[in-house]
Amino acid sequence: EEDPRINGIKTKIRVVPDFPKKGIMFQDITTVLLDPKAFKDTIDLFVERYRDKNISVVAGIEARGFLFGPPIALAIGAKFVPLRKPKKLPGETIFEEYELEYGNDRLEMHVGAVEAGDRALVVDDLIATGGTLCAAINLLERVGAEVVECACVIELPELKVCCRKAEAQGEAIVHAC
Ligand code: PRP
Repeated sequence: EEDPRINGIKTKIRVVPDFPKKGIMFQDITTVLLDPKAFKDTIDLFVERYRDKNISVVAGIEARGFLFGPPIALAIGAKFVPLRKPKKLPGETIFEEYELEYGNDRLEMHVGAVEAGDRALVVDDLIATGGTLCAAINLLERVGAEVVECACVIELPELKVCCRKAEAQGEAIVHAC
């Protein structure tokens, strides 16, 4: 049974063909943010799912995980930790590399932001291959946190998901894995 709010959110996601390059159908969530009801419904669906799960930290992935993570963190009473692209964080960091179509990228996290025993929710706008979420999970587990779930607004089901925590469920939108 799909929540009726999900279809409303779906209609607000703009699909832009051939961006950032030919053949890519870009899933643009900025049009969800333009609609206060769709934006609120998106946050509410996650808050309803995670409010009673004892989550102590929401880790948001740069860049669009920074749009959805903080309102979820505030609503469930968790701290927010940004997982950033290289050389953005000023303090001591640890990093995990992941593969892109061409080359590598990495995610960095401040040392001390997440502690052993923290219960983490990872938030991003979209899961494609799952490589980015895997790097996030590894960062959190390295410092002794338990990753309870990963939450994404959009899943691209045609791509093979390689993330172990991303194999469980297959719903298309407001996706939890
Ligand atoms: C996009 C998206 C996810 C990631 C998903 O970010 O916002 O973070 O790709 O892809 P994956 O599941 O195959 O790892 P992008 O790499 O475009 O970075 P940006 O948010 O900094 O633009």
